[in-house]
Amino acid sequence: MSEADIKLYNPSAAAQAAAHVSGMAAYQALVDEAERDYEGYWARLAREMLAWKTPFTKVLNSDNSPFFKWFEDGTLNASYNCLDRNVERGLGDKTAIIFEADGGEVTKVTYSELLTKTSQIANGLKSLGIVKGDRVVIYISMSIDGVAAMQACARIGATHSVVFGGFSAQSLRDRIEDTGAKAVITADFQVRGGKQLALKSIVDEAIALGGCESIRNVVVVKRTGAPINMTAGRDLWMDELTAGQSTTCEPTWVEAEHPLFLLYTSGSTGKPKGVQHSTGGYLLHAALTTKWTFDLKADDVFWCTADIGWVTGHTYITYGPLALGGTEIVFEGVPTYPDAGRFWKMIQDHKVSIFYTAPTAIRSLIKAAEANDAVHPKSYDLSSLRLLGSVGEPINPAAWEWYHLHVGGGRCPIVDTFWQTETGGHMITPLPGATPLVPGSCTLPFPGIQATVVDETGKEVPWGQGGILVVKKPWPSMIRNIWGDPERFKKSYYPEDFKGQLYLAGDGAIRDAKNGYFTITGRIDDVLNVSGHRMGTMEIESALVSCTELVAEAAVVGRPDDTTGEAICAFVVLKRPLPVGDEAKAIAKQLRDHVGKEIGPIAKPKDIRFGENLPKTRSGKIMRRLLRSIAKGETITQDTSTLENPAILGQLGQNY
Ligand code: WT7
Repeated sequence: MSEADIKLYNPSAAAQAAAHVSGMAAYQALVDEAERDYEGYWARLAREMLAWKTPFTKVLNSDNSPFFKWFEDGTLNASYNCLDRNVERGLGDKTAIIFEADGGEVTKVTYSELLTKTSQIANGLKSLGIVKGDRVVIYISMSIDGVAAMQACARIGATHSVVFGGFSAQSLRDRIEDTGAKAVITADFQVRGGKQLALKSIVDEAIALGGCESIRNVVVVKRTGAPINMTAGRDLWMDELTAGQSTTCEPTWVEAEHPLFLLYTSGSTGKPKGVQHSTGGYLLHAALTTKWTFDLKADDVFWCTADIGWVTGHTYITYGPLALGGTEIVFEGVPTYPDAGRFWKMIQDHKVSIFYTAPTAIRSLIKAAEANDAVHPKSYDLSSLRLLGSVGEPINPAAWEWYHLHVGGGRCPIVDTFWQTETGGHMITPLPGATPLVPGSCTLPFPGIQATVVDETGKEVPWGQGGILVVKKPWPSMIRNIWGDPERFKKSYYPEDFKGQLYLAGDGAIRDAKNGYFTITGRIDDVLNVSGHRMGTMEIESALVSCTELVAEAAVVGRPDDTTGEAICAFVVLKRPLPVGDEAKAIAKQLRDHVGKEIGPIAKPKDIRFGENLPKTRSGKIMRRLLRSIAKGETITQDTSTLENPAILGQLGQNY
């Protein structure tokens, strides 16, 4: 990028004056404070942001690095911090959640009501014998009940593990088994885009697959009330469980390091990893980033469109905004139902002031808006907006500009927030009243986060030179462990290549030669990002080869896609002669359905290509770079003389 190409968007004087972090000098002062006294900085914020039952005296413990501990002798409760504390400071009657159902019905709950609901669920869970340290799997769509169920687990010290409602029975089973959960909280149905999906029956299917012997109860929230099977002695309705329960529940005070939740995410090997988060450090960063990055104020209406099944929904729906006493939207549906104006209509109806969504959603809504004025943001009153956010994948400058102009009316800063399931909250992001913005750049580290770019040996590279994104010091909301697999934790995040001293994010990055702004250049491992959803190529390969009657071998790579960012492309060798035409299409469909069953619809390959074998090096390694070129439709310029069977290049060119 030459200097002339860089267009800076500076915060307006008014936005700057009113912001929690006001101006670059204020940002720099925080960065300097953390630099001077790292532990003192985080300790100050942990005291200011959270209510502790027992104050901590220790800040960071690195004795067993990289298994870091923060605030370890302090005790607190996340649900107390998100609910009771707000009621105690006079916000009991303030709306906590504005829920809009798929069909448009609106339900609101105040902080007092949410506290009562959470307490009753918490008491209900206790009556089932769930105690501190037990795991509870939550498999539910976007709802007040979903948020309350998470808060109820936190209230009694049970570790929740939310599984996104789009995952299959097999994926749900794997997660239940890995967590050893005692209970599953689900709903009879999930309603999205006018369609109903039988969630509870997927739970039944998952348990029937075996390995879920730890499950004693399945608690079912009634969403539609249509008939479902209930297993006597195991299944019960949430209404029945909570009816008659006391409306108060003394929070279970837990140590700061107590695991608040496990959330499964994809890595470079086949098995998803259970990312374990703490209570104290995690909640601190959830609250702090909501305050500084989103500049959340008392009268804001905040809307994060993520699902609670992903980390974004955990940090910026269930915990961050509630910890600050904010008012937020929870939306059950999809951005394109009943039409692609749904987001804009909801912003208008609820006077949303802060809106946080993913580039994929923006890109698909741009397409729809350009085709139809009625669903263009200009057809709605979006004047309530003052701040926009982006998350999950790089936002291309064209989408950024459109978002800024047409959604933000040219007046709203956009915070392009880089972070990961493992980081708990924002890592590299603009602060809206401070950081001049550059479309496509996530700008600078959040104050206190020591991110940098290094080469393969761990040496910092000069600005302007691409490399590997790392974090130099542990931070409060970082992943604590991979559930049940500490070795994998070390290998994945604190590899020996960097002498176990640097946190490896798994992304490439480059800092601007002049101002040091970060641009994320994409994953450096075998992880894909499809519509902001993270997926391991090996996970999809395993799913394909588990179709044993058809598939001999499979290799999966990503290719760029205009809407979804990346698209999944699978190369498949069948156990039968090479199919062509309609037959090949039919087999491709069968394979997609199989992957959908194994993992979930989000993992279905967009492209499927068949070959009699896969291109391999002499030592038998699949030539993935070559496959990536084929997937992109590039002319092959690489040396293919070592290929056993050059004819397969022609075969693999055909996409089904
Ligand atoms: C991966 C993490 C962060 C919550 C949702 C995704 C990519 C995330 C950005 C961004 C460029 C981004 C990275 C990262 N990513 N945010 N603003 N710009 N890339 O969490 O599923 O754990 O995925 O998403 O590749 O490693 P996740």
